[in-house]
Amino acid sequence: MPTLPRRYHITTFGCQMNKADSERMAGILENMGFAWTEEPNDADLILYNTCTIRDNAEQKVYSYLGRQAKRKQEDPHLTLIVAGCVAQQEGEKLLRRVPELDLVMGPQHANRLQDLLEQVLAGSQVVATEPIHIIEDITKPRRDSTVTAWVNVIYGCNERCTYCVVPNVRGVEQSRTPDAIRAEMETLGHQGYKEITLLGQNIDAYGRDLPGSTLEGRHRHTLTDLLYYVHDVSGVERIRFATSHPRYFTERLIRACAELPKVCEHFHIPFQSGDNDLLKAMGRGYSQEKYRRIIDTIRHLMPDAALSADVIVGFPGETEQQFENTLRLVEEVGFDLINTAAYSPRPGTPAAVWENQLSEEVKSDRLQRLNHLMSIKAMERSQRYLGRIEEILVEEQNEKNPTQVMGRTRGNRLTFFPGEIQAFKGKLVKVQITDVRAFSLTGEVLVPVIS
Ligand code: SAH
Ligand code: SF4
Ligand code: F3S
Repeated sequence: MPTLPRRYHITTFGCQMNKADSERMAGILENMGFAWTEEPNDADLILYNTCTIRDNAEQKVYSYLGRQAKRKQEDPHLTLIVAGCVAQQEGEKLLRRVPELDLVMGPQHANRLQDLLEQVLAGSQVVATEPIHIIEDITKPRRDSTVTAWVNVIYGCNERCTYCVVPNVRGVEQSRTPDAIRAEMETLGHQGYKEITLLGQNIDAYGRDLPGSTLEGRHRHTLTDLLYYVHDVSGVERIRFATSHPRYFTERLIRACAELPKVCEHFHIPFQSGDNDLLKAMGRGYSQEKYRRIIDTIRHLMPDAALSADVIVGFPGETEQQFENTLRLVEEVGFDLINTAAYSPRPGTPAAVWENQLSEEVKSDRLQRLNHLMSIKAMERSQRYLGRIEEILVEEQNEKNPTQVMGRTRGNRLTFFPGEIQAFKGKLVKVQITDVRAFSLTGEVLVPVIS
């Protein structure tokens, strides 16, 4: 058996799930004796944790991979791994395309990295993409931050949105038990983490696959129940969750958020389109009226809550008028932030083979118009912070201005203020907001509220 290579580098593409998986895989590698290197060209092991949500995400992976595959031709000791969603989607095809690869592993296999790597180091080329029951994570993740952390609560997705690859690459829903989630949060609280984001592609589906999940006709393990179950974990000061699905989102959840002091006043609820016919074609299972009712209830119960969403423009068949319905929704709701994307046909999804695809010109024109409206609306929403005193959890130095530190409001607005990171990192402070921009704020610290 060859000696173990010692230095590793992970490049992560895609969403928070991938970031969370990368942190667990880094933990496994360090446990095996590997040491992190910032510079990929110095690494003996390179792992790409990949995303395939849109074509440009996938192409980015191939261009990174091409460079390292070339390096491997000169240095055969380099271990090359593709993990994540492209790995799952392409499987063995990836080995044909990039024969230099040692290991192709889908997202469900992240916790098995040690096992798989041992097979590689024993001389095999390995593909691990079969669906499996995700084993509880017993390793120690190497987390990027010492202040904020992600905790998976449900893996996979059982929805069938007609544009989306996630169910194909992430598999069926698998909820972790409330006890496992709470135990991980308690460890984080002891380690000094202040903010935890609970993660799921459709987090409102949490618990429906757990044994004994219904009692007298009512779900026992819902996201709302989970929030009540974990909110008193000591040390943890803030709890967030994402991503919410309008089809399953409940008023009970909003009431819990209003009632539980640690749960932040921020909802991320993608609506994808403001047009009912398009929502139907997307297979989303709600109408724009239902979406607006959810927002009205949030505004009624939590008037200051921040709202964010994801939107797709240029879905097959989208007419100018249907696109304008999306613009109208954005205009009327007043989001703090939206993630916008032009529709990208994805392999293995129903909408990709429909004949009513729109041209790239139409899609990019609509994307620009939506982005323009978005920045105007975000600026309007930012105005409400001016002069206010906000609670900020300090995360890092401001990369662009080292005399400032960076943190977030409870509503998730990026906020900067003058200060030394050593003095403020991980602290909750009161900051008076003196300057607002569309997507960030600047202020001055008043007094630290918690040391
Ligand atoms: N589970 C979340 C989102 C997961 S993917 C939800 O249901 O909302 C993140 C975002 O990528 C989606 O909200 C959608 O806006 C975008 N997206 C997904 N598939 C896409 C595609 N084929 N083309 C363009 N954007 C897409
Ligand atoms: Fe994709 Fe829809 Fe599942 Fe979200 S809910 S991950 S958009 S299939
Ligand atoms: Fe991308 Fe996979 Fe996340 S496709 S958005 S990394 S679930």
